[in-house]
Amino acid sequence: MLFICFLLFSNMITTSTSVDTLAMNQSLQDGKTLVSAGGIIAVGFFSPGNSTRRYLGIWYTNVSPFTVVWVANRNKPLDNNKGVLKLNVKGTLELLNDGNSTIWSSNKSGKAVKNPIARLLDSGNFVVRNGQETKDRGILWQSFDYPGDTLMPGMKHGWNLETGLERYLSSWRSDDDPAEGEYAAKVDLRGYPQLIKFKGPYIKSRSGSWNGLFLIGYPAPTPQTISQKFVINEKEVYYEYDLVVSTMFSVYKLTPSGTWQNLYWTSQVRTLHVASTGEEEQCGKYAFCGANSVCSPDGNRPTCECLRGYVPKSPNQWNKEVWSDGCVPRNKSNCKNSHTDGFLMYTHMKLPDTSSSWFNTTMNLDECQKTCLKNCSCTAYANLDVRTGGSGCLLWLNALTDMTKFSQWGQDLYIQVPASELGTAGKLYGKRYKTSQRKEEATDLRIFNLSVLANATENFSTKNKLGEGGFGPVYKGKLIDGQELAVKRLSKKSGQGLEEFKNELSLIAKLQHRNLVKLLGGCVEGDERMLIYEYMPNQSLDYFVFDETKKMLLDWWKRFNIIKSIARGLLYLHQDSRLTIIHRDLKTSNILLDANLDPKISDFGLARSFMEDQVEANTSRAWTLWIEKRALELLDEVLEEQFIPSEVIRCIQVGLLCVQRRPEDRPDMSLVVLMLNGYKLLPKPKVPGFYTKIDVTSEENSSSANHKLSSVNELSITELDSR
Ligand SMILES: *[C@@H]1O[C@H](CO)[C@@H](O)[C@H](O)[C@H]1NC(C)=O
Ligand SMILES: *[C@@H]1O[C@H](CO)[C@@H](O)[C@H](O)[C@H]1NC(C)=O
Ligand SMILES: *[C@@H]1O[C@H](CO)[C@@H](O)[C@H](O)[C@H]1NC(C)=O
Ligand SMILES: *[C@@H]1O[C@H](CO)[C@@H](O)[C@H](O)[C@H]1NC(C)=O
Ligand SMILES: *[C@@H]1O[C@H](CO)[C@@H](O)[C@H](O)[C@H]1NC(C)=O
Ligand SMILES: *[C@@H]1O[C@H](CO)[C@@H](O)[C@H](O)[C@H]1NC(C)=O
Ligand SMILES: *[C@@H]1O[C@H](CO)[C@@H](O)[C@H](O)[C@H]1NC(C)=O
Ligand SMILES: *[C@@H]1O[C@H](CO)[C@@H](O)[C@H](O)[C@H]1NC(C)=O
Ligand SMILES: *[C@@H]1O[C@H](CO)[C@@H](O)[C@H](O)[C@H]1NC(C)=O
Ligand SMILES: *[C@@H]1O[C@H](CO)[C@@H](O)[C@H](O)[C@H]1NC(C)=O
Ligand SMILES: *[C@@H]1O[C@H](CO)[C@@H](O)[C@H](O)[C@H]1NC(C)=O
Ligand SMILES: *[C@@H]1O[C@H](CO)[C@@H](O)[C@H](O)[C@H]1NC(C)=O
Repeated sequence: MLFICFLLFSNMITTSTSVDTLAMNQSLQDGKTLVSAGGIIAVGFFSPGNSTRRYLGIWYTNVSPFTVVWVANRNKPLDNNKGVLKLNVKGTLELLNDGNSTIWSSNKSGKAVKNPIARLLDSGNFVVRNGQETKDRGILWQSFDYPGDTLMPGMKHGWNLETGLERYLSSWRSDDDPAEGEYAAKVDLRGYPQLIKFKGPYIKSRSGSWNGLFLIGYPAPTPQTISQKFVINEKEVYYEYDLVVSTMFSVYKLTPSGTWQNLYWTSQVRTLHVASTGEEEQCGKYAFCGANSVCSPDGNRPTCECLRGYVPKSPNQWNKEVWSDGCVPRNKSNCKNSHTDGFLMYTHMKLPDTSSSWFNTTMNLDECQKTCLKNCSCTAYANLDVRTGGSGCLLWLNALTDMTKFSQWGQDLYIQVPASELGTAGKLYGKRYKTSQRKEEATDLRIFNLSVLANATENFSTKNKLGEGGFGPVYKGKLIDGQELAVKRLSKKSGQGLEEFKNELSLIAKLQHRNLVKLLGGCVEGDERMLIYEYMPNQSLDYFVFDETKKMLLDWWKRFNIIKSIARGLLYLHQDSRLTIIHRDLKTSNILLDANLDPKISDFGLARSFMEDQVEANTSRAWTLWIEKRALELLDEVLEEQFIPSEVIRCIQVGLLCVQRRPEDRPDMSLVVLMLNGYKLLPKPKVPGFYTKIDVTSEENSSSANHKLSSVNELSITELDSR
């Protein structure tokens, strides 16, 4: 207790006496720091890694390990600790060595200077402005205009087109040397702007362009703790992100080896976590497959495939899996027959390099297609913004480079091919594309023929039966083209009408998240109602957790990942999807596992008419143990010592919080995600209420907030949490 008092007390002392400004003629010596008003960030002198040289830098206070996010004199170190930072009458920050010579200075802006003052803001921006003016107008210089290797919240990454100022990131040379290293991340203004990572003059990878939601060249999930934007107008082109919750910090570092690292921590637990961004796979290497060729990531052995209508430029090399020469058109188009050309749609694509592209933000996809058909150099088109069903037009006017086919995420890309290449593929193209465009575009949903499904499942034979869910049996199917499916044949007693079913189908199809099983289509014939999902090779979670040998495959890390992923999926269903869906039947058999054992929720969004009875969870077992502080005993004995107790306890505690008797004591899904990730301190659970049917029925008339709350119940009744 005394210790805590002391901590609070010393904290007060620091905030009350710390200084965040340097006034005119004032100086900052080595050993002293300026600390931002909120105590979050500091500027001062430091030595990186094992180096003894001194640099002026900015770092977050009390975060371990010590991490510097900006360096002033990165290319000109001080040899001793006699350096001084000074703000002169002209509003210039000067870093002086012990011989009083300037080794670094902030640049002059050309503005009139009056009583300049330098202030370190909580954002980490070190700003020199005229003393009287507080608005942006008065800014003479700011460190955010000269980023180092770290992108921070609120920092603009890109261009001020009026002044020509380019803000880009450049790596350190090594952990000991902040001098400009080999790697740089820049916003490329050619064509539709995109974010590119360079190694020297060479492009190493593309983070890609903005599609309204994320960077299209790099469609990995973004952490839910940040919000992003990409601004393109006549004055500015830049990428920027901000924190969603001000106490959950997240910065992006370009490391000396050229990888991106996401560093994140919370103001309560100031230990840095590091997440690498996963772009380092082969397919992520710029133009790994050469031109006009698509990369398919397949573990360590990616493959490249020419676009339809293209052939390998160097077949011998290609056969040896040396892909870099790429592909060339099979037949030279003379462009006179352009009206007979058509388009092939490629789905889930990392869109090609946009450096030789053209764009229009107001055209729709139809106009986009027409524009592309008219222009002999147009090779492909796509939507610019995928929100609200897609808008804007992006055209490529040259070879298509650096494409990847993902199994999820990604965007639709329409590639122009001569009519002779269109063939009979089931994809959409040319004029036929136009007629069915509306339906496809709206939901990207396919209507299957009953006969096709019957054949694919060998007449729904029992040997293809994957399981019997609450809404009917599920069969494995295989189409003639080899695509595998999971076919859910809904029980006939549902008595749902045709229109009702179709509406529901298009509703479910709109729900797309990496932790939800993807709906591919439906089938409505006679009184048959079927839902067709992507096939998940590793079946459902219950196959693992209830099987003595299989459960060995799920170590604690895998299980914790599964718990967090399911929570993310549920958060999406509850809040992020436009529809706010409540999963009322979450259980281990409804959680399917992909080849990496990453979980996907199935059976979401189905109508109430399909509901089966809920199973009451054995929460009273869990509660007794909690009381006895033996929560860890809940763990499957197979986990033995292989787990992190704090994570396990966090999980169980969140589980218990979710079944609190009073809804207002239960966290909503976004809090659950934060808690599971350790971003939020957990309140102590009270005696839990049981999951009862009453919750479901009373929910019908209550507010959406209550919907969220009672549905969270279901997370906690999975075996996963209570085992
Ligand atoms: C700052 O220093 C300059 C030059 O040394 C001097 O002319 C000026 O009066 C000083 N201003 C203040 C406010 O100390
Ligand atoms: C500092 O030196 C030690 C011992 O030589 C080495 O293990 C460590 O990696 C170095 N750290 C940095 C940041 O270079
Ligand atoms: C540096 O400047 C200070 C203050 O103007 C002065 O006292 C000191 O002698 C100077 N040092 C050298 C090495 O010129
Ligand atoms: C100052 O401006 C020059 C030229 O515009 C630039 O090369 C230099 O990097 C800038 N220095 C700082 C510290 O901003
Ligand atoms: C394209 O090439 C194929 C075979 O290489 C040929 O059969 C076909 O006639 C060609 N089409 C055109 C339009 O030249
Ligand atoms: C973009 O497309 C719209 C609609 O076709 C058109 O009115 C507008 O002029 C185009 N803008 C540019 C810059 O081409
Ligand atoms: C194709 O479109 C581009 C971009 O608008 C334009 O520069 C080029 O001249 C067009 N080519 C033809 C043949 O129309
Ligand atoms: C789908 O079914 C209809 C009628 O049942 C049939 O006419 C059509 O040929 C079928 N299509 C396919 C692709 O099997
Ligand atoms: C039925 O499936 C078999 C392979 O299982 C395939 O050879 C056949 O063409 C399919 N028939 C129809 C009508 O889809
Ligand atoms: C499915 O059943 C139909 C009629 O009952 C039969 O003609 C067909 O051969 C069966 N197909 C398979 C793949 O078993
Ligand atoms: C299922 O998971 C196991 C264990 O990770 C893996 O070895 C296997 O390849 C997966 N099965 C399939 C069909 O992907
Ligand atoms: C719940 O757990 C308790 C304690 O382990 C046990 O006695 C009881 O039978 C369980 N109830 C159900 C329904 O499994």
